[in-house]
This record gives sequence, C-alpha cells and structure tokens, in this order.
Amino acid sequence: MADPLPPARRRALITGASGGLGAALARRAPPSFDLVLSGRDAGALTVLRVAAEAEGRQVETVAADLDSPEGRRALIAATEGRIDVLVNNAGLGAYGAFLSREPTEHRAAVVVNALAPVELARALLPGMIERARALGGRAGLINVASSAAFAPAPSMAVYAATKAFLLSFTEALAAELSGDPVDVLALCPGATESNFGVRSGFGRSFPGAMSPDYVARQAWEALGKRRTLVLGALDAPALAPVALARSAAAQAIWRGSRLAGALFRR
Ligand SMILES: NC(=O)c1ccc[n+]([C@@H]2O[C@H](COP(=O)([O-])OP(=O)(O)OC[C@H]3O[C@@H](n4cnc5c(N)ncnc54)[C@H](OP(=O)(O)O)[C@@H]3O)[C@@H](O)[C@H]2O)c1
Repeated sequence: MADPLPPARRRALITGASGGLGAALARRAPPSFDLVLSGRDAGALTVLRVAAEAEGRQVETVAADLDSPEGRRALIAATEGRIDVLVNNAGLGAYGAFLSREPTEHRAAVVVNALAPVELARALLPGMIERARALGGRAGLINVASSAAFAPAPSMAVYAATKAFLLSFTEALAAELSGDPVDVLALCPGATESNFGVRSGFGRSFPGAMSPDYVARQAWEALGKRRTLVLGALDAPALAPVALARSAAAQAIWRGSRLAGALFRR
C-alpha cells in the first residue's frame, strides 16, 4: 500500500475484529500500525491480540456491543483522540423474508451497520484529523459496505438498505472532507468467506465467496490513494458505471436544486 502516513507508528481501530473480514483486516494491516480490536467475543479478540503482538504490534482489545448505546459509548471513550484510522467493519444481516425475521433482528442490523458507523465517525474523526495535521500525514476512515449497497436485495432487504445508507454516507463524507487530511473509503466487497452466511441464517458462505485476506489487502492498498470506492474484483466492471451514474446524479441534483431555488420561488 502507499502508506498515507509518515513512518511513525499509527493506530487503527477495527470494529468486528473478532472474526471474518475484521480479523483479516487486523492480520493484513501495514506493519507500521498498532491496533485497537473491538467486537463482542473477548476470547476471539485475545487470540488475535496475541498473534498481532507476536508481529511486534501494540494491541489493545475493547469488548463492546455496538447494538447498545453503552457499548458504543465505551468504545468511543476508549479510543477518542488516540487513533489515526477507523475501520467500521462490524456488521450483520438477517437472511430470509422480511416478515419471517424478528423485529429485533432488523433493528440490530440498522443500529450496528448504519448508526454505529455514524456515531463512531462523528466522535473520532475530529481527533483523527487533528492528529494527521499535527503529524503532517493523513488519517483514514474505511466503512465496510458491500456490493449489496448498490441494489435492493430481496431476502436481505434491511441488510442491503443499511449498506446503501453506509455507501451514501461515506461518499458524501468523502466529498465534505476532501480538503482535510483524511481518506474516506467505502469498501464494497462481494461475497466473502466468513461467519456472516451462517449467522445470517443463509447457512453457509454466499456462493463464489472471496477470501477475507484478499479483500483486506484490497482495503489497505486503497488507503492513501484518495479513492472513495473499493469494489469487489468481479463486481467492478458492473458496478463502476453505476458508481459513475450515482456521482453524476449527485451533481445534477445539486445543480438542479440551485436552479430550482432561483426559478421557483413561489
Ligand atoms: N461475508 C460477506 O459475504 C460480506 C460481503 C460484503 C460485505 N460484508 C461486510 O463485512 C463486514 C464483516 O462481516 P463478516 O463477513 O466478516 O461477518 P462475520 O464473520 O459474521 O463478522 C462480523 C463481525 O461483526 C461483529 N459484530 C456483529 N454484531 C456486533 C455487535 N452487536 N457489536 C459488536 N460487534 C458486532 C462480530 O463480532 P462478535 O462476533 O465478536 O460479536 C464479528 O466480528 C460486515 O460489515 C459485512 O456486512 C460481508
């Protein structure tokens, strides 16, 4: 990767680090990064911490349930002003017909996939940008969305909607912060091997799943290159035109609303 930051050691917070893609993001972090690993499974975080410490990193673990306000507050309190890169990776989804799944399951997907990244970004970005300015480097925000962010997904309706939210939020934030020393990325992988498929109720990894280490490498390599979107390798040819169309639509809406304000004032 083109390390966006000076050679001094930096600290990345990775949520959902206890398994799947989050654990791969921890394993594949550039050697100059120390880590704060978060998830609910304290045992899994400890195993990962020991392995990462053996590589010479300093590692902290913070067990926190992002579905609860207390969990989100605890994670923010433990990291505010101390990190350079935030990876909002924790996520879940309930597979099956919308009406066949419990309201609490839908609520958890909205809170963990959408609300928690917003709260963490709002709380941590000011300190991240301040540290980057003070050290003359660039901070980073990686929001783990999905290829599902680009289209409605029957049988995973709420999940896909939360990822569409996260993608829209990330792209808007990238534009807002383009003058600040921070790279804002939406990582949009296709199916990836992890516990997600089993936990969702699908029963196994989704067909054609990529290795989480491959996806994690893609994410770290993109950081510092001032890109906003990281698409899955096989999805990119289909989704890149959609991404361009979204960007053109955003500009058209912005220009149109200014014109409408001038033309239709009563
Ligand atoms: N797998 C795919 O096909 C795929 C494709 C595109 C995008 N993604 C995205 O990739 C990200 C990682 O998912 P994965 O595939 O690695 O699935 P995973 O193996 O199920 O891992 C999900 C991670 O999220 C954490 N998490 C879930 N609920 C949480 C909560 N309430 N509080 C705190 N942490 C919580 C889990 O931690 P604990 O187990 O410790 O609770 C776990 O570390 C998600 O955002 C997912 O939407 C996955």
